[in-house]
Amino acid sequence: MLKCFLSEIKPNPTVENVQTGVAAFKKSGADYLIAIGGGSSMDTAKAIGIIINNPEFEDVISLEGVAPTKNKSVPIFAVPTTAGTAAEVTINYVITDAAKNRKMVCVDPKDIPVVAFVDSEMMATMPKGLTAATGMDALTHAIEGYITAGAWELSDMFHLKAIEIISRSLRGAVENTPEGREDMALGQYVAGMGFSNVGLGIVHSMAHPLGALYDTPHGVANAIILPTVMEYNAEATGEKYREIARAMGVQGVDDMSQEEYRKAAIDAVKKLSQDVGIPENLKEIVKREDIPFLARSAYDDACRPGNPKETSVEDITKLYESLI
Ligand SMILES: NC(=O)c1ccc[n+]([C@@H]2O[C@H](COP(=O)([O-])OP(=O)(O)OC[C@H]3O[C@@H](n4cnc5c(N)ncnc54)[C@H](O)[C@@H]3O)[C@@H](O)[C@H]2O)c1
Ligand SMILES: [Fe+2]
Repeated sequence: MLKCFLSEIKPNPTVENVQTGVAAFKKSGADYLIAIGGGSSMDTAKAIGIIINNPEFEDVISLEGVAPTKNKSVPIFAVPTTAGTAAEVTINYVITDAAKNRKMVCVDPKDIPVVAFVDSEMMATMPKGLTAATGMDALTHAIEGYITAGAWELSDMFHLKAIEIISRSLRGAVENTPEGREDMALGQYVAGMGFSNVGLGIVHSMAHPLGALYDTPHGVANAIILPTVMEYNAEATGEKYREIARAMGVQGVDDMSQEEYRKAAIDAVKKLSQDVGIPENLKEIVKREDIPFLARSAYDDACRPGNPKETSVEDITKLYESLI
């Protein structure tokens, strides 16, 4: 029986949100969790579910990275209302340590919801800006998952399909067409089936500190950073940008030189971002004096080792600088 109700979950949910939830869950005597909402609600439910069955992690902080939890989460029924994070199907959850201005990526196969109800009607109330941002988060998952260090044929299959579905449907979803909404619900989920198994890269590592420090919506941060990091990573991606360009509907990719198809893939991402109203750069978000903190934090992020190219605090510093 459902006995407690937790609302007031912040976008970029905090340690405090999780601890409030743990206390409410214990008080209620409930047997399971129903997570209705975007990535923030689903991630909070995952953290609560893990802590209830692994109380030695009640500080939340010790869950960052791959924590040695022993027991599965309390059963979670997930109902996503955004089309982006795929948290209903991934092994990850992301919680903000507000005291340290740090978004902690937690990776734990024991947190996957037992059932996911992926229904595009639940997403139809999203305003344009939220649809665009969450959709670009999904595209970032698909592209970073496709080029990440651990990618292989099976994950490539999910990511290429997701890139194709998302790039053909995000503009429609932003206009609230039923077809666009349905395809985005599917595309973001397919991306999650991929990246949850292989990891991401430094677009996410650079986006997380912006969420922690400035409360930047996750998808907006990813979307702005993605083309710049694609340029940076290109040399470590072999032929993959040809397939990204093809999946995004670029014509004639087989006749293009490496330089041409890499540019075509990056241009296709920029065009989609622009069409759905994402800002071009981080000028309105990042303060120059914060860049040393942001770069260090991005380098220490759990997604960074998945980046296809070895990186450094210095390189990440330059990437942030190029975006302001
Ligand atoms: N678990 C994962 O694998 C994973 C992957 C990517 C991102 N994330 C995390 O997920 C969080 C972002 O989640 P998100 O992008 O889904 O957004 P969100 O859950 O933070 O929601 C953003 C805002 O949209 C509102 N909202 C949600 N659904 C709505 C709807 N249908 N209509 C109108 N408003 C609605 C929410 O109330 C909130 O104010 C970040 O913390 C990010 O780091 C997790
Ligand atoms: Fe994401």
